[in-house]
Amino acid sequence: MSAREAAVRASYDTVAQEYADRVPQRFAGDVLGRALLSGFAELVKRDGGGLPVVDAGCGPGHVTAHLAGLGLPVHGVDLSPRMVETARRAHAGLRFEVGSMTALDAGDASLAGVVAWWSLVHTPPEELAAVFAEFRRVLVPGGHVVVGFRVGSGPRSPRRAYGLPVSYEFHRFAPERVAGALAGVGLEVDGRLMWGGEADPSAGLLASRPT
Ligand SMILES: C[S@@+](CC[C@H](N)C(=O)[O-])C[C@H]1O[C@@H](n2cnc3c(N)ncnc32)[C@H](O)[C@@H]1O
Repeated sequence: MSAREAAVRASYDTVAQEYADRVPQRFAGDVLGRALLSGFAELVKRDGGGLPVVDAGCGPGHVTAHLAGLGLPVHGVDLSPRMVETARRAHAGLRFEVGSMTALDAGDASLAGVVAWWSLVHTPPEELAAVFAEFRRVLVPGGHVVVGFRVGSGPRSPRRAYGLPVSYEFHRFAPERVAGALAGVGLEVDGRLMWGGEADPSAGLLASRPT
């Protein structure tokens, strides 16, 4: 594991419970973000042949549970063992494993979908291509990716989050840069959404592995 990943893991181990106490409520109010995830779920059900879906960087598992509620056979993966424990406690019927989105525990062309919802925020822009190449490897032809992130540029290095010490960098991206990295590994960008107002908007992209 890289030093960067070790810092992300340690930081989320520290904030796991506070994150779980606050962020799922925010997600419940994020109507447009959930609309994009609903579109993803429909596409996966149409094209995925019933194959599994992975929520990469699942945190406390609320997005995984939301997608399971929409009928997807989804499980969560996260770098942080404390996040995975939190997710297992909150969603006992679902599967959550410790792992990295940079090396998914899945065979080539074995998944119908990959979700990276606010989990690329600790990946430097120059490393997006390697992560998306991994997503492409595990996706079946016709499989779909959805990513959600904060729009902006330049890393932030908060020393505290949720009232606790952290040691990660937080990256915001231009949507064109994320779209370019997806296209660069052979994923087709099928849709984009920006929401949340002019200052610090959110963005989401849908992409698929061509058949
Ligand atoms: C901002 S939280 C997002 C959690 C959840 N997806 C959500 O929407 O609230 C970022 C999560 O991504 C995880 N993460 C960051 N880099 C990762 C990687 N390379 N592999 C797996 N998980 C990662 C972190 O441990 C953390 O739980």
